[in-house]
Amino acid sequence: MRIVMVGSGYVGLVSGTCFADFGHEVVCLDKDPAKIEALRAGRMPIYEPGLEALVAENVRRGRLGFGIDLAAAVAGADAVFIAVGTPSRRGDGFADLSYVYAAAREIAAALTGYTVIVTKSTVPVGTGDEVERIIREARPEADFAVVSNPEFLREGAAIDDFKRPDRIVIGAEDARAEGVIREVYRPLYLNAAPILVTGRRTAELTKYAANAFLATKITFINEIADLCEQVGADVQEVARGIGLDNRIGAKFLHAGPGYGGSCFPKDTLALVKTAQDAGTPMRIVETVVAVNESRKRAMARKVIQACGGSVRGKTIGLLGLTFKPNTDDMRDAPSLAIVAGLQDAGATVRAYDPEGMGQARALLPDIDYADDPYSCAEGADALVLVTEWNAFRALDLERLRTTMAEPVLVDLRNVYRVQDVERLGFRYAGVGRAS
Ligand code: UGA
Repeated sequence: MRIVMVGSGYVGLVSGTCFADFGHEVVCLDKDPAKIEALRAGRMPIYEPGLEALVAENVRRGRLGFGIDLAAAVAGADAVFIAVGTPSRRGDGFADLSYVYAAAREIAAALTGYTVIVTKSTVPVGTGDEVERIIREARPEADFAVVSNPEFLREGAAIDDFKRPDRIVIGAEDARAEGVIREVYRPLYLNAAPILVTGRRTAELTKYAANAFLATKITFINEIADLCEQVGADVQEVARGIGLDNRIGAKFLHAGPGYGGSCFPKDTLALVKTAQDAGTPMRIVETVVAVNESRKRAMARKVIQACGGSVRGKTIGLLGLTFKPNTDDMRDAPSLAIVAGLQDAGATVRAYDPEGMGQARALLPDIDYADDPYSCAEGADALVLVTEWNAFRALDLERLRTTMAEPVLVDLRNVYRVQDVERLGFRYAGVGRAS
């Protein structure tokens, strides 16, 4: 199959590379010539474990290429995936579809022969209809179909998620188009990945429903965590106790500083907007959005409380800045609100992150950056674990404590065992743990 990816961001680059790895012939496109040049030179625009090697392997085998010339790539392609960004629109929170529609117009101009155009970007219900209308209007004679094929991969585990998906959702309006996308995924369903074929609108909504449900699950356990702290219970044990019930499931029940990233915040908001527009407001998701938003800032108050009620003039060390481990992505990271809250309260903030400091410097220009966890802790009045990078699980805590001004450890990911750190002389605060 000849496949084109329009957009070489997270989803486009990972999906395109994995499709090439299945044996398809893939071209990943991007508007940004510098990004394409870097990719051609083997440099990745994002940090994602395993990606660089997989790209190199497939480029070497001649199955994967990068370019900026959409017309040349689309002519003769079997499937063209739209994997451009759908950020929150400034001002109203609806998904900004301008990149998707611009891609549709460009694709329309370049179509030759039967082509399936696939929306892989997370797009609101009805976007596929609009993409179809745009192309039909520009090229009334063109032979094409528009399919929705949402992606469920997570950053930091993207390749594994793509190759071992829980399911593949194909939203197609006709059997021929469905057949093309089944062919694209053939290597996966030979591996028994369930394929769910639905109408296009249903597939579009399935993606939002999945992300909103996961965001709800996290927010639910975060509120249980707050209650645990008040009543002397342990949220990790509650999570295990409910998660062992198959109807609930153990995943996405880790209490923490609130969800962040490039997906949950914008997708929950866009779903809220779609539902309001449709006259069926989703009050649960509306509440999830509000609760999560206030939680991030509340984490700064938690730190202040752990420091005895004031951080004025104090130095607070943050371990981890990215919204989750194994990524350099800082989008909507809880650390942003935590830093702001601490600075507003008069603290000096110092931080260390294994991969995120490049992006962080642009977003948080007025904090100090340390070279490693130990220099981050030096002279600090409190150390706050914000992102659960594996490197932070095996720290020499004794060494950390001896260099700190005050032995205060705020563990927003419940990485440490209370007894262990208290034995070492730390004053410890986790999330949802009675201490
Ligand atoms: C999420 C979904 O998990 C993917 O299925 C989806 O494809 C993706 O969005 C997307 O729409 O593109 P991602 O944002 O990469 O993936 O990362 P997650 O692992 O889902 O984490 C999101 C946030 O929730 C992070 O801030 C994480 O720390 C937080 N989280 C996650 C918790 O606080 N507790 C948990 O138990 C799980």
